[in-house]
Amino acid sequence: MTSHSLDVYGKGTAVWFPDDKEGWTSAQLVSKDVSGDNVKLTFLTDDGKDVVIGTTLTKLSKTNNAELPPLRNPPMLESADDLTSLSYLNEPAVLHTIRTRYLQRNIYTYSGIVLIATNPFQSVSLYTQDIIQAYSGKRRGELEPHVFAIAEDAYRAMLRDEQNQTIVVSGESGAGKTASAKFIMRYFASVDDKDRSQDVKKSNATTSGMSEVEEQIMATNPIMESFGNAKTTRNDNSSRFGKYLEIQFDKNQNIIGARIRTYLLERSRLVYQPETERNYHIFYQLCAGAPPSEKKNLELGDFTQFHYLKQGGSGTIPGVDDAAEFETTQKALSVIGITIQTQWQIFKLCAALLHIGNIEITESRNTAMVSETDQALVTATKLLGIKTADFRKWLVKKQIVTKSEKIVKDLNAQQANVVRDSVAKYIYANLFDWLVNVINESLSNEEVAKNVSSFIGVLDIYGFEHFKKNSFEQFCINYANEKLQQQFNQHVFKLEQEEYVREKINWTFIEFSDNQPCIELIEGKIGILSLLDEESRLPAGTDSSWCNKLYQHFDNPTHKKYFQKPRFGNSSFIISHYAHDVEYEVENFLEKNKDTVPDEHLALLKNTDFEFLDDILTKGSAIAAPAAKPDAKRSSVIAKKPTLGSIFKASLISLMETINSTNVHYIRCIKPNEVKVAWKFEPQMVLSQLRACGVLETIRISCAGYPSRWTFDEFVQRYYMLVRSKHWGPDTKKLCSVILDDSIKDPDKYQVGITKIFFRSGMLAYLERLRLDRLNECVTLMQKNMLRHMHQKRYQALKASTIKIQALYRRRVAMSELKRLREEKAAITIQKNWRRYIQRKQYLRAKKAIHKLQTVVRGVIARQKFEVLCRNAASTKIQSVYRGWVARRDYKMTLKRIIYIQSCLRRRLARAELKALKVEARSASHYKEVSYKLENKVIELTQNLEQKSQENKTLETKTLALESQIKSWIERYEKLESDSNNFKSSTKQSTIGIDEFKTLQTEKETLESRYRTSLENIKKQDTEIQRLTSEISKKDDEVARLRATAAKYKGAEDPATVLALKQEISTLREQLTKVKSGVRGTSPPPPHRQENGFLTAAGSSSLKLPSQSRRPRRHSSAESWGPNEAARRKPKTSVDLVMAEAKKPGLRPVTVSYTQMNVPKIKSPGGRVYLPGVEDDPEEEIMKLLDDEDTLDEEIINGLIKSLKIPLPSLQNPPSQKEILFPARIISLLAKQMWKFGFIKESERLFANVMKTIQEHVMDFEGDEAILPGAYWLSNVHELLSFANAAERDMLRGVNPAAESGGKAFEWHDYERLVSIVKHDLESLEYNIYHTWMKELKKRLFKMVIPAVIESQSLPGFITNENNRFLTKFITGPTTPAFSMDDLLNFLNKVWKAMKSYYVEMSVIQQVVTELLKLIGVTSFNDLLMRRNFCSWKRAMQIQYNITRIEEWCKSHEMPEGTLQLEHLMQATKLLQLKKATLGDIEIIYDVCWMLTPTQIQKLISHYFVADYENPISPEILKAVASRVVANDKTDILMLDATPLEDSGPFEVPSPRDVAPPDNYLPAWLNLPHVKRLGTLAT
Ligand SMILES: Nc1ncnc2c1ncn2[C@@H]1O[C@H](COP(=O)(O)OP(=O)(O)OP(=O)(O)O)[C@@H](O)[C@H]1O
Ligand SMILES: [Mg+2]
Repeated sequence: MTSHSLDVYGKGTAVWFPDDKEGWTSAQLVSKDVSGDNVKLTFLTDDGKDVVIGTTLTKLSKTNNAELPPLRNPPMLESADDLTSLSYLNEPAVLHTIRTRYLQRNIYTYSGIVLIATNPFQSVSLYTQDIIQAYSGKRRGELEPHVFAIAEDAYRAMLRDEQNQTIVVSGESGAGKTASAKFIMRYFASVDDKDRSQDVKKSNATTSGMSEVEEQIMATNPIMESFGNAKTTRNDNSSRFGKYLEIQFDKNQNIIGARIRTYLLERSRLVYQPETERNYHIFYQLCAGAPPSEKKNLELGDFTQFHYLKQGGSGTIPGVDDAAEFETTQKALSVIGITIQTQWQIFKLCAALLHIGNIEITESRNTAMVSETDQALVTATKLLGIKTADFRKWLVKKQIVTKSEKIVKDLNAQQANVVRDSVAKYIYANLFDWLVNVINESLSNEEVAKNVSSFIGVLDIYGFEHFKKNSFEQFCINYANEKLQQQFNQHVFKLEQEEYVREKINWTFIEFSDNQPCIELIEGKIGILSLLDEESRLPAGTDSSWCNKLYQHFDNPTHKKYFQKPRFGNSSFIISHYAHDVEYEVENFLEKNKDTVPDEHLALLKNTDFEFLDDILTKGSAIAAPAAKPDAKRSSVIAKKPTLGSIFKASLISLMETINSTNVHYIRCIKPNEVKVAWKFEPQMVLSQLRACGVLETIRISCAGYPSRWTFDEFVQRYYMLVRSKHWGPDTKKLCSVILDDSIKDPDKYQVGITKIFFRSGMLAYLERLRLDRLNECVTLMQKNMLRHMHQKRYQALKASTIKIQALYRRRVAMSELKRLREEKAAITIQKNWRRYIQRKQYLRAKKAIHKLQTVVRGVIARQKFEVLCRNAASTKIQSVYRGWVARRDYKMTLKRIIYIQSCLRRRLARAELKALKVEARSASHYKEVSYKLENKVIELTQNLEQKSQENKTLETKTLALESQIKSWIERYEKLESDSNNFKSSTKQSTIGIDEFKTLQTEKETLESRYRTSLENIKKQDTEIQRLTSEISKKDDEVARLRATAAKYKGAEDPATVLALKQEISTLREQLTKVKSGVRGTSPPPPHRQENGFLTAAGSSSLKLPSQSRRPRRHSSAESWGPNEAARRKPKTSVDLVMAEAKKPGLRPVTVSYTQMNVPKIKSPGGRVYLPGVEDDPEEEIMKLLDDEDTLDEEIINGLIKSLKIPLPSLQNPPSQKEILFPARIISLLAKQMWKFGFIKESERLFANVMKTIQEHVMDFEGDEAILPGAYWLSNVHELLSFANAAERDMLRGVNPAAESGGKAFEWHDYERLVSIVKHDLESLEYNIYHTWMKELKKRLFKMVIPAVIESQSLPGFITNENNRFLTKFITGPTTPAFSMDDLLNFLNKVWKAMKSYYVEMSVIQQVVTELLKLIGVTSFNDLLMRRNFCSWKRAMQIQYNITRIEEWCKSHEMPEGTLQLEHLMQATKLLQLKKATLGDIEIIYDVCWMLTPTQIQKLISHYFVADYENPISPEILKAVASRVVANDKTDILMLDATPLEDSGPFEVPSPRDVAPPDNYLPAWLNLPHVKRLGTLAT
């Protein structure tokens, strides 16, 4: 075991050595020699001194290492926020941790269940409402240590266990007890418990957000402080009494009352103040703050006037304005319910006390004297309402009552002074008790008492005190502290023990120094107090006789441990308290204990005229008396009156009973320096306080047991690497035992419980060291492998590149060789070719010469042969020519002779023929034949013509038939028109029955169908005409052709017939053209009629459309057709007739009318195509509909608002504005109608109802459900507002909405008023909807922000688990966040989508999104600031990733500037990710995070959770960062102003929209007949 312990002392180990000034100083082990049994350790302290420790192993094991210096914790732990998490828990470690934290501006530190609060002596930004809210609902340990965490803890424990709670705040004077207690009270008064029902809380809230009771409770502070606090050397606002405040809660955990118990007011302060100290504040306040008139009445002046106020010599406190404080006190008194009159009576009493102090007592011949005219005496008695003479008498005299007589004795001056002061003290003490009583009555009356279900008590009581001279007060205080310490120790033990038992581990109880004997010594049956009481009752009892009695009783071996007699003198005794030995001077013990006023004075005061004084005396003593247990039979007044000691003892015992019946929480306040300077730390002073407040004692206790404990999971998680991976498995318990067996040899060092492993102190450090070594080993191994890998890679790369270089070089050499070879080859080729060229040239030249020679020779030979051939040819020719001439001469002669013979013969033959022909030529029958042929031709033509005229005639008859048909149509039409007229008149006379209507309808339908058939007929005839026309034109052509043939035979034909034929043809042609033009003329309408709007209407008359009959007067067809009258009356030809008929109104626009017939929603001028007969007077109908207010209201309120199915938003396929804004448009339409018909009052009612309903309706939705209706109605209300705006604009222009309508009388004035009211109301409604909606959105979002942005971890590689291993007592495992980023973004999407698709203005969208983003930014930033063990690098990564997602969202939703709202959070995450190793890094942080205040940066850096692989932030840096925090700088805030959920700031109503024209759109599924009908009528 020893060697193991010595193992820890390795080279470089840091240890602590005691130091006079610093408490402890740090040192490092520089060398360690173990030779045999001898051990020699050399240390080097921080201030450069060597310390050598020489010992032996045997000695070490015997003393349990007592000789070795305590070990210092690793730096990472040195600012741990829980002392019990320290690996080495020893005095220097505790001191150092508190000191380090204090210098980092962390004033709170946990020590297990205790909160240690070090007074900052400066206002720190730790107590704002946001922080209160931040701690609300949080488990302890989740956030950094804080007094609020303790308060919250108590509150939760009260709820959970239904048990009363006590928070004990202790510490020495000026350590901050009262301040802490006040913070706790404020916490309870102002925390808004999210779990608690809001309604109850809000119902009686005042402006400050607190309920009346809560305000009253807070008001007790200034009262108690002004009457019970005073300036002392140690504290400018020192409480001179102990206080136990019970805050009472009812069943619903609402604060309903409070009760104060006070302990031991320091009475002597009233009459005496040491140098630089003051009396109770109230007196100075009164002197400084009373108005002149009152001052005059009470004869008050400056404090220097009064003996009781000026003894300390300093009447003012720097930084405190007594006059202002006086006002505060008065206000507080009023809040408590003390009337102004009573207040002035209190002050009057105070003034009287001051005057009593000024009564001058002189002495002559050992007798005290008071002048009869002493101004102070007179004033005092006057104010007190008692007889001056009596008072004066009993000031200087004393009455001794013996059995037989009463003796009056003179007092000396000193005695008289004592009497005077005792009267003053008596009155003041009673006044104080009375005040407490009044407060209690006001805060906890019977009514309240009945409803109290539990309470939380806050005990603010003086801590352990020891001065050079200690008196009765110190004795009482220390007695109280002994009792509290005992309770504390027992509590700690109990907790410790409970845990051991719960975990079923083997444990032997550690012995601890119980201070029961010491308490027994003081309060026992024969104890110091009882002896004191006994002595007090003896008439002749004195301090010294009492002291002797003490010596007799206790100066013996049995009490030696706690009571000692000082070595010198007999006027004091020493008690060894748990914290320190204290020597008490016995002087005045008796006097102070008796605390009496002479009976004569008592009687005198009782008989006062001043009722108030009487009141407080009776009430005051009534309160004090029952506190002490009634002693046995009492006969005299003195015997009856309990002593101060016994009162105190009784109240203390009752207090302890209360405390013991409650669950206790502890706050220990530490005063870090004597001079009350901010951030100054005096180690020795703190050490003594740590001892005195029992922190060190508890640490010792827990060290004796098993201070460190881990759950199996946590243990495995941290130390799994200590064993080989083959052991790793899901069974953590087994793995734990493997790890433990492997690493801890000594089984006494740990215990395995049911869920946890318990370690003795120091084992953590040991395990940590093993872990570190193991990790280092692993890291080295990994480094080795990594380095090998790297070098191998490098070598391979080198090799590869060498080979590459070689290859390149070789290639280069080969290439140059190749080049050489190529050049050689090329040269040879050139030579070869050159030679070839020369040789060839020579050869060609030779060849050419030879050819020339050959040619010349051959030429000569050929020429000679040619000459011979020529001679032969010439001779042959000559021969042939001659022979030819001879032959030709013979032939010609023969031919001449033949021809002569022929001609002679022929002449003879011809002469005979001629004679025969001359006879025959005389006959003329030939001509006749020709004429006959022509005649035939003419006959043929005539026949043809006759046939044509026949055809023409048939055509004409056909045309005539058509005309007659048309005429009959016209007749029928006219008949129908008259019918319809009749019909109309008959409708006017009586309502046509539905049957008749139906018959008419069918008639109409048959007519229509007939009309359609005739139309078809006309079409058919049209085509027939066309066919005939083309036939005629064909015939025409033929005639022309024939005429041309005839022309040829002009001379022979009969001109008359031809002429007749010609004429006939021309008539035919004329007729033909006429018929043609007639047929074509029916289609194009004449332009002037097209412009005539009536045309359509007139056209429809042929359809018997009702509209036609409605307005006959205005649109008479006769007028309209005037210009064509002549044309109609005089038809010239049959074709003209046809034309004229065609132009008649009924026929021409037929096509137009026909198409109209087919369109279902035809709009005739009257706009109605339905329900003939009902629509007669729409105005009247509208009026009627408007008159039926109830139905209309019902339809609008219920149908259009309450039960409206809101169209779902969609961005892909957004609904049109018409589909979204129809409720608003319908309502405006109705309003318009109402105005038009003068329904001003009704419209006002309608608007009021609508607005009310919308507002209520929107408020009905909560959470996610509120998104759609909110946006929807926001948009609709804006639409309505735009309508109202438009109406107002029109109104200002003087447009009368009711113009030309026959409604009610229109009151312009009413209308004006209505429009402005409606506009204003709509504006407020929009504003309200926006705020209600935002409230819901924010409430919903608020729940999501922290889980989603701060807690969720979406980057897989960076998951962290902050589950703090040391706080497992309080925290139960990590939980997955309730919301993810997806949820949050979905929410934003939903809101965005709703607003976008409901046409909410962009400016509003921006406002909404900005507000929501602000909520996200501020809430998460504030949460991050308060997190503990959370702000790590990995977390920052996660959060930044989350922010980036929001950023992306903003960018993709047209709001890139929205991210500005997240700037704080962004910078905070940056800060967490930046390096924090040097001061330079810190400078960079300040630059980068320019938006964060020094306090915020300090907080984040000091919270930075260092990972295993990081170096802890050096204390220098932490100190440097802390020093940047500017004290009392208002701008240097910690938490950002939280965006209130209730309030979303000013809402800027967007500018009005362009109002769309009235529209009666209603979705088909809405069944609102009235509204629909009205809408249709109106448009
Ligand atoms: N948390 C704190 N923040 C700021 N200042 C503090 C805090 N705690 C104490 N102080 C300062 O210390 C002073 C003394 O505190 P306080 O009056 O609470 O001491 P105390 O313990 O009640 O002393 P006493 O026993 O004399 O009544 C306060 O007036 C205040 O200025
Ligand atoms: Mg105090």
